[in-house]
Amino acid sequence: MEKWQSRVAFLMASIGSAVGLGNIWRFPYVAYKNGGGAFLIPYFVALFTVGIPLLIAEFAVGNIFRKSAPYAMKGVNKKVEWVGWLGVFSAFFISIYYCVLIAWCLCYIFHSVGLVWQPDAANFFFEKFLGITSSPSILGSINAQIAFALLFVWTSIYLILYKGVKSIGKVASIIVPLPTILLLILTIVGISLPNAGSGLDFYLSPDFSKLSNPLIWLSAYAQIFFSLSLAQGIMIAYASFLEKKSDIANNAFITAFADGGIAFLAGFAVFSVLGFLSYQTGMSMEEIARGGIGLVFITYPTGISKIPFMASFFGIIFFITLFAFGLTSAFSMVEALSDGLKDKFGVAKEKANFFICLIGFLFGLILTTGGGIYWIEIMDHFISNFALVFVGLLECLILGYIFGGERIRKYVNEVSEIKIGKWFSIMLKLFAPIILTLIAISSLIELLAHGYNGFPGWSLAIGGLFVILILIISIFMGRVKCLQEQ
Ligand code: PFF
Repeated sequence: MEKWQSRVAFLMASIGSAVGLGNIWRFPYVAYKNGGGAFLIPYFVALFTVGIPLLIAEFAVGNIFRKSAPYAMKGVNKKVEWVGWLGVFSAFFISIYYCVLIAWCLCYIFHSVGLVWQPDAANFFFEKFLGITSSPSILGSINAQIAFALLFVWTSIYLILYKGVKSIGKVASIIVPLPTILLLILTIVGISLPNAGSGLDFYLSPDFSKLSNPLIWLSAYAQIFFSLSLAQGIMIAYASFLEKKSDIANNAFITAFADGGIAFLAGFAVFSVLGFLSYQTGMSMEEIARGGIGLVFITYPTGISKIPFMASFFGIIFFITLFAFGLTSAFSMVEALSDGLKDKFGVAKEKANFFICLIGFLFGLILTTGGGIYWIEIMDHFISNFALVFVGLLECLILGYIFGGERIRKYVNEVSEIKIGKWFSIMLKLFAPIILTLIAISSLIELLAHGYNGFPGWSLAIGGLFVILILIISIFMGRVKCLQEQ
């Protein structure tokens, strides 16, 4: 039976999974778009009302059943094994494009050396680096540079996972503190740049009028959900490697606060440089702080190249930070699936990991083409707005009603340093399911009414089909009887 070598190893691995690309570029962007400083209110409300309760519940069932997510679900009720599969397959699906993003970061570590994106970072990113095509229907050819970087990423994941949970703990214990320190350095440098204050004002000054818009609240919940790596079987798998009756509540609070804290810090690092950039170029903050992938690969690099001292060095450490945080999230996604396959078919994890990494790499190659960026956006939209929210909803219902919210609370209070109150069951059984249903419905209405980001309808239909395909495979996996069960 695999086990963490220490509590710290478990915590580092969980924090490593939670903290990722989502914290460095997504949080700052989502925060400024949704009311700046005022967004922190819905963000923390979301953290306490859905993020932490679900994280506690996932840690608890992982520790109670000490199995992968599909088998923990099966332990609750045989009929819901497929929900666990849906989570881990969604995680694998995310890993396919997430690793391509990490590969971009790896390439940008090298591009930082000569600040090669100058003088026009947008042109460099889209034309020279990606060789973007004019529409998602034209893929173009595979980009050799990105493909090699992708091979490196998947090989690293395979090697890190090769020696099992012990090496995950060791690697995470090194990888997680390093980029945290680098991020601190970037923040200090950023806030000491001229006009950094106006960027921070833009990031933090609260626009309370926005709080009356329900979509802002839903964005906060979606952000928390993605950021804490919930509903993908990861936290269940990680908690299954803990000793029986290990602390649950305190570990969940530490993981959640570390994740939120690093996201908040990243906002300072990013927006201080954007403030500086607005000072250098005379552009307004509204023009500069356009979000999405461009924030990290275009706007921030442009800002960095204007720093008069050690600009390359800051570029390098920024992309190392993204790369390192991204990698610890990526291997957690693979681990969740290989753990499930081991439980189901009794296959050795090394073998399962090998095939998962190989398949992930091969599918990822499609995304290294000139049309890849379009598909990355489509996949990300569908998986994070529909698949994850759907799994989260089912998980709340299964754990809250079939297994029993109070039963989880009792277990958690037996083993934890911090005792949790009745609020936990209320959140799990009532509040979280209602909120998750609202997110799914409003995302669906929005998609049907306005499409998504100007993408053609047929490409969105393919995105929807991906989700349905994952659902069918998961239901099938839940029904298949494996050898040991016959
Ligand atoms: N929590 C990660 C982030 O914020 O970047 C993203 C993530 C990790 C998503 C693990 C999915 C996952 F399975």
